[in-house]
Amino acid sequence: MQMPLALRGALEREAARYKLSELQRAHERLSESYRAGAPLGRLSPLGDAERLAYAVARMPATYAACSAVLKAVMERMPAAPASLLDLGAGLGSMLWAAERLPALEAATLLEADPGNVQLGQALAAEAEGTEWAALRGADWRIGDIASAKLPPCDLVTCSYSLGELSEASATRALQTAWNAAKRMLVIIEPGTPAGFARIRKWRQQLLALGAHMVAPCPHSAGCPMVGNDWCHFAQRVERTSLHRRLKGGSLGYEDEKYSYIAVSKFPAALPSARIIRHPQVAPGAIKLELCAQGGLSEVVTTRKNKEQFRRARHAAWGDAWEPRPATEEGTRDSFE
Ligand SMILES: C[S@@+](CC[C@H](N)C(=O)[O-])C[C@H]1O[C@@H](n2cnc3c(N)ncnc32)[C@H](O)[C@@H]1O
Repeated sequence: MQMPLALRGALEREAARYKLSELQRAHERLSESYRAGAPLGRLSPLGDAERLAYAVARMPATYAACSAVLKAVMERMPAAPASLLDLGAGLGSMLWAAERLPALEAATLLEADPGNVQLGQALAAEAEGTEWAALRGADWRIGDIASAKLPPCDLVTCSYSLGELSEASATRALQTAWNAAKRMLVIIEPGTPAGFARIRKWRQQLLALGAHMVAPCPHSAGCPMVGNDWCHFAQRVERTSLHRRLKGGSLGYEDEKYSYIAVSKFPAALPSARIIRHPQVAPGAIKLELCAQGGLSEVVTTRKNKEQFRRARHAAWGDAWEPRPATEEGTRDSFE
């Protein structure tokens, strides 16, 4: 996956204001802080070069995760949201990914760091064309997720942000985010055991508040992922030359791993199962590992079952899976 051309161009132009060595040093400082366990929101003081280094290094990956999650959500909820509230918006990855939301009219972004807001606005200002109207007109606000008064919106999102709060603040913020969601709440965290553990805990809290599951889980029962395993997905992100120069390495891509949950105020039509690993392809047979309504399971499909085998060949990690093709009725959401 690639970021939109307009965003890549905007980042290149911002980066041109710095020497590459300055950005590399800033990136190194960020990496050291991350390795020491300090999330972006707790790094201070954060300089403009660090913000830009973060944008170049991380926006392609967080954009890809946001975009993939919105796609998975829209498959279950085709009645598209008209308003978006993104909490801990950073530089606006979710806003750019919201091009996936065809009916979006208004977006509000809440972010604690004024410098991030400034850079995010500068990047968004470079988006041209009518399809980006909501992006250019977005309402950026400086504030704290845990205490700000949040405007009710169809879709509320927290992408790689809730996990930066202390446990108590995150629990409070979860409740306020859920209250602000007129239809749906989406939370994305890094696809690590720790990121997934938070998602699993918040899933339970949201279900207890009456939330209906949308994705990725095909059920609202207890999560069957136990032991050392963790539910996560991945997006392959194409690396730009600026990205390679900043982070080093020769690979033309990197894989962004993420865990997420999407819940709704209204019941959604859930799939029979979701594919939770890369499909394993052998000659004449494809094995899918699934999270299904009855728990974790595996299905091996062979050429004998032509139609199912054809679908399995096109299936990917993270996709919904039906043993038989879904009917129109089965995939339509029912919240309107
Ligand atoms: C890892 S970044 C993710 C940014 C963006 N959502 C993305 O997906 O690229 C986390 C962001 O959350 C912001 N943040 C952390 N704690 C916050 C809080 N209590 N209120 C508002 N924003 C916060 C940080 O300043 C930072 O910009």
